[in-house]
Amino acid sequence: MKSISQRIYEYGIVPVVKLEDAGLAVPLANALMAGGLKCIEVTFRTDAAEQAIRNISQECKDMLVGAGTVLTVGQIERAVAAGARFIVTPGFNPTTAGYCVEHGIPVFPGCSDPASIEAALELGISDLKFFPAEPSGGLPMIRSLCAPYTKVRFMPTGGVNDRNMNEYLSYDKILACGGTWMVKEDLIRERRFDEIERLTRNTVMNMLG
Ligand code: 3PG
Repeated sequence: MKSISQRIYEYGIVPVVKLEDAGLAVPLANALMAGGLKCIEVTFRTDAAEQAIRNISQECKDMLVGAGTVLTVGQIERAVAAGARFIVTPGFNPTTAGYCVEHGIPVFPGCSDPASIEAALELGISDLKFFPAEPSGGLPMIRSLCAPYTKVRFMPTGGVNDRNMNEYLSYDKILACGGTWMVKEDLIRERRFDEIERLTRNTVMNMLG
């Protein structure tokens, strides 16, 4: 069976969503799948996150659903119980990262400097989020970090969009790009799922394979 990292690598793009209403989670996931993306990161930035993950995991069996903006072990437990298959944290937190490793939960901690990369490597984690990607130096910074840390791959998010995603994707140390450009909060709130599907399809058509 494919690892979660391998599936994310094959999808190439991870839509990062903030949902205020868990009732919109399934139509949103369906729009992403119709546009060609079978992956979603639901962020714990709202109280609806846990139920949104549960709805997607129960009703959209083909969708790989993960939890993002995870800050505590309690959130990991709730996310996994709701059906999250992977955890993304904005920074490197040894407590949350260590918990995931101990429990065999795929985790992508945010690491954008040598100290946090080394701390992640010490736990055996080498697929990392790079956040916030553009303000942290973008692809030039990732290339510099990959020179000494040859085993590491990055998932950049934060300022990544359909205009710069291919710069990142052309580098072989990029696992996937994450971002909100096809799942903006106003589009979700206004239930513009056709537009989300269109933006997703555009992204999938234009991304480097
Ligand atoms: C994240 O949590 O990964 C980012 O907030 C996504 O950033 P973006 O809105 O710039 O894509």
